[in-house]
Amino acid sequence: MLLLTGGAGYIGSHTAVELLDRGHRVVVLDNLVNSSVEAVRRVEKITGQQVPLVVGDCTDREVVERVFAEHDIEAVVHFAGLKAVGESVSQPLRYYRNNLDALLTLAEAMDAAGVRDLVFSSSATVYGDPETVPIAEPSALRVTNPYGATKLFGERILEDLTAASPDWRITLLRYFNPVGAHPSGLIGEDPNDIPNNLFPYISKVAAGRLPELNVFGDDYDTPDGTGVRDYLHVVDLARGHVAALDHLGDQEGLEVFNLGTGTGTSVLEAVRHFEEACGHPIPYRVGPRRDGDIATCFADPGKANRQLGWRAEHTVAQACADAWRWQSANPDGYA
Ligand code: NAD
Ligand code: UFG
Repeated sequence: MLLLTGGAGYIGSHTAVELLDRGHRVVVLDNLVNSSVEAVRRVEKITGQQVPLVVGDCTDREVVERVFAEHDIEAVVHFAGLKAVGESVSQPLRYYRNNLDALLTLAEAMDAAGVRDLVFSSSATVYGDPETVPIAEPSALRVTNPYGATKLFGERILEDLTAASPDWRITLLRYFNPVGAHPSGLIGEDPNDIPNNLFPYISKVAAGRLPELNVFGDDYDTPDGTGVRDYLHVVDLARGHVAALDHLGDQEGLEVFNLGTGTGTSVLEAVRHFEEACGHPIPYRVGPRRDGDIATCFADPGKANRQLGWRAEHTVAQACADAWRWQSANPDGYA
């Protein structure tokens, strides 16, 4: 049995499907601060399998210890965390408390239960504004906001843990920009309020729920002047977790892998792909740059390709088609 903390969320729910489809059993621990029970029910619908859901907080030691006592857990994927960069700047204590306390409480409970195989959701945000692209794992790490700092500190805590206790096997996965939805249209990204990220924002504009996209700057040093990112289909990302878990058994200590496609796409290219998917123009207006944004960020996924035997298979166009299917079938998300 695998424990997925934050398994009701966007990436966790897609990963649950891929794991269940390959014969793993999973239990989800989620406080539903940014997700809903319905996501877990939909995972059950897609896979035809039952997914026990414990509604509880990873910072609650009693709850976490009970999960290990009641389920025969072999390994954990720790998705649970708060992830909005802007919110982390205005609520730093909430972000540090939640993300670091969740990790520390989980790791202590794992140690006490003798479960020492862990996959941790990290982010390309730990590379900050990279000196060169594509970004490989040994690149310099620097963060520019409290959310990023929680990921960097989380990585550091786990490095120190594996250095001190060689029986831990830990994989840090640095995700680039996850987008799209499951091709069934049953699960997808369901942000509260107005989305911060490009893809959910475009989806809402395409659906007529927001009037137009604000393109944050067209004067970057990129081919069309708009920001370039590595958009990774969430199903590919989910399969990256399957590959990481499969590899964990042969691993010693800690390993870090980028999960990205290796290809950059600009904001305007993303808009064009989405227009193709939804069949009508997406209104947009170019405005000023967003504070803290960088010009270009894309992965060198070579290490994951070689060592995990994993590579992204979906195109950005497919991600747009799947995002649009999810948006059209669920205009109010899981509500
Ligand atoms: P999400 O918000 O959809 O999922 C996170 C889940 O964790 C939610 O279901 C939330 O309710 C739960 N959660 C938060 N704090 C919790 C706590 N203390 N106890 C129990 N549950 C808690 O986000 P996601 O996009 O699925 O991201 C999953 C992980 O991947 C996060 O750690 C995030 O920081 C990381 N990540 C995401 C992205 C991205 O762009 N989506 C990029 C890089 C890294
Ligand atoms: N953008 C717009 N308009 C919008 C939203 C975004 O033009 O309304 C642009 C941004 O300027 C950027 C690109 O679209 O050029 C992508 O922006 P996102 O907000 O979707 O993604 P980011 O790369 O800025 O940030 C994401 C996650 C962070 C994570 C980072 C690095 O949101 O949590 O990737 O992994 F830290």
